[in-house]
Amino acid sequence: MADDAKRNIRKSGTLMRFRFPLWIDRLIPVTLAIAAIGTSYIGGVVVYGLSPSTLDVGYQPKQPVPFSHALHAGNLKMDCRYCHQTVEKAAHAAVPATATCIKCHSGTEGPSATIAIHSKSPKLLPVRESAASGSSVPWTKVHDLPDYAYFNHSAHVTRGVGCVSCHGRVDKMQEVVQVAPLSMGWCLDCHRNPEKHLRPLDKITAMDWVPEEPQEVIGAYLVEKLQIQSKTNCSTCHR
Ligand code: HEC
Ligand code: HEC
Ligand code: HEC
Ligand code: HEC
Ligand code: HEC
Repeated sequence: MADDAKRNIRKSGTLMRFRFPLWIDRLIPVTLAIAAIGTSYIGGVVVYGLSPSTLDVGYQPKQPVPFSHALHAGNLKMDCRYCHQTVEKAAHAAVPATATCIKCHSGTEGPSATIAIHSKSPKLLPVRESAASGSSVPWTKVHDLPDYAYFNHSAHVTRGVGCVSCHGRVDKMQEVVQVAPLSMGWCLDCHRNPEKHLRPLDKITAMDWVPEEPQEVIGAYLVEKLQIQSKTNCSTCHR
């Protein structure tokens, strides 16, 4: 609401002469946090940079269910979009609802059961409890950008950037691990040279795709065909 109000004022021109972009507001907590740490700005940056949810390549939290991508996406060859259903349509990829697991791991047996794979497995207890209670499985987030940075999955996966470019070989992971720093420099590296990372749209979830022609050739072709202009101005990611 407050932001909307400010936007309107901005649009009406009242504040046109001197304006900071609105996302600066959202940096205030960060600035305060750094100030609170003391006089040492460096100290602040180090502490902030070590926060496990950002910049932490290798971050791999324990999950309530030992769900394996190596088994489901690797061995069983399930497409990422079977579970991450919103990834092409929305900003967030969404972790699957319990109903998606229950299609195969139904807790009931007998004629009324759907497919009851490991239906008594203790590893799947939180999934069965979630199905019974209606509350979701408390998965722990692995990747987490600060709120002042805006990211959008659909803007990437419908424009030739595959999951593997940012998440690595998830199909080989027993537990998901963060492989990219998710820092501003990392985002900009690709936004400045997207041709190094683009692939045909039907290969977005193909983890083991290798270009048949040199990547520069395919990349340049796709930049042209899809009219890619991955922007680097601040308001692209701070809005
Ligand atoms: C059978 C369902 C299923 C399939 C198929 C699947 N995932 Fe997942 N994915 C999950 C679940 C459940 C989680 C949450 C638990 C976890 O992090 O392991 C998750 C988590 C993730 C995360 C971490 C999310 C976070 O918290 O930051 C990434 C990245 C991811 N999946 C990518 C992929 C990719 C890429 C593919 C295709 C190669 C894929 N997934 C296929 C179910 C699935
Ligand atoms: C399309 C069917 C299918 C879906 C959907 C599915 N799984 Fe599975 N899952 C399997 C199969 C098949 C196995 C077992 C393979 C084996 O034991 O050889 C398995 C095994 C498991 C196991 C290991 C159980 C044990 O006791 O060893 C866990 C945990 C698991 N799945 C969690 C999940 C979760 C969580 C979801 C939802 C995000 C999910 N699965 C969705 C087919 C599925
Ligand atoms: C351009 C890089 C990039 C690509 C491509 C990408 N992701 Fe992500 N993914 C991210 C970032 C960054 C986050 C953290 C977003 C946040 O915290 O707001 C994330 C978070 C996630 C999450 C956690 C839920 C969420 O949205 O925060 C899942 C699940 C996930 N990605 C799955 C996928 C799958 C599946 C694909 C391919 C279909 C994919 N991602 C492609 C960068 C990417
Ligand atoms: C591997 C390459 C790659 C990485 C890494 C990447 N991007 Fe992108 N990004 C792209 C491409 C390509 C587009 C699509 C540009 C287009 O549609 O013309 C895009 C588009 C976007 C858009 C939509 C812009 C618009 O015009 O609406 C946003 C927002 C964005 N990226 C934010 C991010 C952020 C934040 C990160 C880092 C966390 C990131 N990107 C990392 C390649 C990348
Ligand atoms: C392609 C996306 C993207 C663009 C374009 C972008 N940023 Fe960022 N920026 C990010 C991300 C992602 C972070 C969060 C990184 C992290 O977790 O520390 C960030 C963090 C920041 C921070 C916090 C301090 C830091 O370095 O971590 C500042 C300040 C900032 N950006 C300023 C800017 C300015 C000024 C511009 C324009 C010149 C800009 N950004 C353009 C993605 C972007």
